[in-house]
Amino acid sequence: PVAPPATFVIFGALGDLTRRLLAPALVNLVRDGLLGKGTRVLGVAHTEGDDQSLRDVLDDYIEDKSDWPNMSANVHYRQGDFTKPETFAALAKELTGNVVFYLATAPGFFGTIVEALGDVGLLDEKDGFRRVVIEKPFGTDLESARALNKLILARASEEQIYRIDHFLGKETVQNILVTRFGNALMEAVWNRRYIDHVEITAAEVVTVGTRGAFYDATGALRDMVPNHLFQLLSLVGMEPPGDLSADAIRTEKAKVIAAVRPISPDDAVRGRYAKGKIGTSKVVDYVAEADVDPKSRTETFVALKVAVETWRWSGVPFYLRTGKAMSARDTEIVIHFRDAPLSLFPDAEGGKLPPDKLILQIQPNEGVSLEIAAKAPGPIVAPVPVALNFAYADRFDIGHRTGYETLLYDVLIGDQTLFQRADQIEGGWAAVQPLLDAWGKKGKPHAYKAGSDGPPAAADLLERDGRSWHSIS
Ligand code: BG6
Repeated sequence: PVAPPATFVIFGALGDLTRRLLAPALVNLVRDGLLGKGTRVLGVAHTEGDDQSLRDVLDDYIEDKSDWPNMSANVHYRQGDFTKPETFAALAKELTGNVVFYLATAPGFFGTIVEALGDVGLLDEKDGFRRVVIEKPFGTDLESARALNKLILARASEEQIYRIDHFLGKETVQNILVTRFGNALMEAVWNRRYIDHVEITAAEVVTVGTRGAFYDATGALRDMVPNHLFQLLSLVGMEPPGDLSADAIRTEKAKVIAAVRPISPDDAVRGRYAKGKIGTSKVVDYVAEADVDPKSRTETFVALKVAVETWRWSGVPFYLRTGKAMSARDTEIVIHFRDAPLSLFPDAEGGKLPPDKLILQIQPNEGVSLEIAAKAPGPIVAPVPVALNFAYADRFDIGHRTGYETLLYDVLIGDQTLFQRADQIEGGWAAVQPLLDAWGKKGKPHAYKAGSDGPPAAADLLERDGRSWHSIS
């Protein structure tokens, strides 16, 4: 169904996010006929400019221009300082009806903008809905996230707040719940009786690039773990919801995150890339990157052993890892099943067959693969592992999507399922807080060569449990 018409007020309209993701996603929604007639974009930013200058900036990033003219006529620009009340007073005069306020700004402005919107009455839902979309990072630790939630919820209700985690916009991430709860087969074995351990990996080949200033103050743990990786963990770990309402799903996810034990530094490894090569491109030491403090102790890699203390998962470790400048881009979830109760079939060398594995390949090469044993042809019974593969590309035409289309559409139709509730955010920070405390005080990351799979200490983390990481490829 077509979404109700609304004004998208984008704070930070000239920034990277608006150009690369938001504007292209809106154009894709126009193409799919999903935006209500009269939907418009009102960009706000500090820089001097007019409607045409914003249209020109966005134009550069729109790949398929066929629907852009329909959108661009409805794109307007207002210059404004986010810290000045007059910016918001002017908006209050001009805005009526349904409004989405999209905070695509530096995180330091999130609280300021919501407060200012509240002060001028722009969050009162008198003649339409008023919704606020907040990008990550939401806070920098438990305390700051709590303070930000408190400040925001003093001005708006939880139903008006859409905290983005763009991983939830990915088709393959949304497919986790369909895999689990749309099939009778999966849930039957989805528990500690049949699952030995779970791995969640988000490996990237990109370096910090031009984001040195942000990244050096943030690090891999804050950037990826309490948000993206915990969202994946909660989708794998949650109980079936009573229905498909946003709150039923969000409650189950929040319960799993709340059950994650605060992570001990003994169960965590931090790494930082050192110079090396990825493919043919040379990578410099992290500390030699632009806008990075040469004395930095910031990590670009983390590996964690996480305990989820619920009836379903107690005793099943979740191993998480993420890093930049690694050997390949690979975001995947690997469910390692237990050994067969009795091994009737040795493999060709007389050894034990590897246990079954279910691999949810989030990106790239999106798909699902189940690795099981099969008999290799021949007179001798010698089973080998084989893969039952489902690749999205073989079955669907995914087209060119940013992942933000669904998220923006859901904001317009008022569906909060794919957004983080306050308790999930705080639960994520609570679990990693011991590491923030410990790492902030002392020690430094292990070095790993750019283009490798992380520091040897990450391999040791699993080896001490008699396990090893699934290969990154
Ligand atoms: C962002 C992080 O939230 O997610 C980046 O700030 C990271 O550092 C990115 O590269 C990864 O997202 P994706 O969609 O490219 O896997």
